[in-house]
Amino acid sequence: MDSDLPLDLNIENLPHHVAVIMDGNGRWATKQKLPRIAGHRQGAKTLKELLRCSKNWGIKILTAYAFSTENWRRPNEEVDFLMILFEKMLRHELEEMHRQGVKINFVGDLSALPKSLQNEIHRSMLETSNNQDIQFNVAVNYGSRKEIVNACRQIAELVQKGEINLEDINENLIEQNLYTADIPAPDLLIRTSGEKRLSNFLLWQMAYTEMYFTDILWPDFDRAAFHNALLSYQNRERRFGKVKAVLSA
Ligand code: FPP
Repeated sequence: MDSDLPLDLNIENLPHHVAVIMDGNGRWATKQKLPRIAGHRQGAKTLKELLRCSKNWGIKILTAYAFSTENWRRPNEEVDFLMILFEKMLRHELEEMHRQGVKINFVGDLSALPKSLQNEIHRSMLETSNNQDIQFNVAVNYGSRKEIVNACRQIAELVQKGEINLEDINENLIEQNLYTADIPAPDLLIRTSGEKRLSNFLLWQMAYTEMYFTDILWPDFDRAAFHNALLSYQNRERRFGKVKAVLSA
């Protein structure tokens, strides 16, 4: 692999799964006196670069929050633009992503998306399903609470049908009924633009995820910024509720 991993990063301690909340596209555009949609267009380029960089550096899963269940409340023109942007990205980039060994996956309630986008989504997931270099999850019409309610309903139905007993409900079963079934939890979450919230993103999955917040607006989040986020991650001690390892004298 032609990894160009920066020398000060420890290859043994990279996050396996990085999740990103790509915030600040609108503010980036306004600062440049451009319409908000120009920020999303630039944001898409940033995401492409981050995917390329993640793959080269040996990160195995990248998950991006592209559209939340709450984002439908934005002006119609902006929502329409984003739906078309997702579709265009898939149409134009699929071949290249496939060649790069990217396995594309979507999480969220896809049934509410325009039919033509749903078709592109299914085609891209099917075509890239055997790729193994990096898994790229795109969260679209995603909301964590909705995801959990959905999982509860699916499990309740199994109990109702007598297929499982109440005692069979455990963390593993809940995980298997989330959109992210079979995807290990993120090790690192990055949120740009200075906001310090989770905004209904992967609430169950991020119980032990390290959080990194930066003031950089998403379209400006480049390779150097990602490098800094990874350095911060590598300086942390992840204890998962345990006490610090005690060195024997
Ligand atoms: C948040 O910034 C950004 C979004 C809701 C859209 C994210 C979408 C992309 C980056 C497009 C690329 C994605 C794919 C999968 C092709 P904001 O609009 O909330 O910014 P603001 O807080 O400054 O208004």
